Amino acid sequence: MEKNLTPIKILFISISGNTRAFAQKLVAYAQKVRQADPTARLVEITEIGGDNQFIEMQQPFTVLVPTYLGGGNGINNGNQEIMTNEMRETLADNDNYRWCYGVIGSGNRNFNAQFGLTAKQYAAQFKIPVIDFYEMRGTQADVKRIYQELNDFQIKFEQHLSN
Ligand SMILES: Cc1cc2nc3c(=O)[nH]c(=O)nc-3n(C[C@H](O)[C@H](O)[C@H](O)COP(=O)(O)O)c2cc1C
Repeated sequence: MEKNLTPIKILFISISGNTRAFAQKLVAYAQKVRQADPTARLVEITEIGGDNQFIEMQQPFTVLVPTYLGGGNGINNGNQEIMTNEMRETLADNDNYRWCYGVIGSGNRNFNAQFGLTAKQYAAQFKIPVIDFYEMRGTQADVKRIYQELNDFQIKFEQHLSN
C-alpha cells in the first residue's frame, strides 16, 4: 500500500468569517479528492487569534491572510496592517516563518492597489512567496486551483528540506 502524503497544514486568521469559510472549503475539497485518490493530501486548518496561543511550527505550512489596512483610500495610503497582526506575530514567533512555504492573500478588489496587500507585506518581511490571491470567501475555482498550488509548493519545499 502506498504511504499517505503528509497533510497540507494551514494557519489562518479571520475577522468576519470569509477566510474561515475558504479554509473550510479547502478541507472539504481535499476530502472529496481523497475519496477518489487514497494518496491525495488532506488539509488541516488552525485558526489564529482569540486565546493568546503560542504556536510553534515544526512542519511545513502555509498561511491564509485577509487584508485589513488602516485609514487608506485603496490606492496610495493606508498601508498599516490592522486586525490581523496576530498572524504576523505568529510567523515571527519562534522563527515559525522558516517552515512557511508561501502565503495566500485575500481581500476585496474594490480596494484596488491595496487588494491583498497584507500577503505581499508578509512575503517581503519574511522572504516567502505569495502563492495566490482570492476574493472574499473564494469561488470553487479558487479552491481547486489553490489546492493544486499548495500541493506543488509543499512538494518543492519537502524536496528542498530533504536535500
Ligand atoms: C476595515 C476594513 C479594511 C479592509 N481593507 C482591505 C484592503 O486594504 N485590501 C483588501 O483587499 N481588502 C480589504 N478589506 C476586505 C477584507 O480583506 C475582506 O472582506 C476579507 O474577505 C475579510 O476576511 P475575513 O472575513 O476572514 O476577516 C477590508 C475590510 C474591512 C472591513
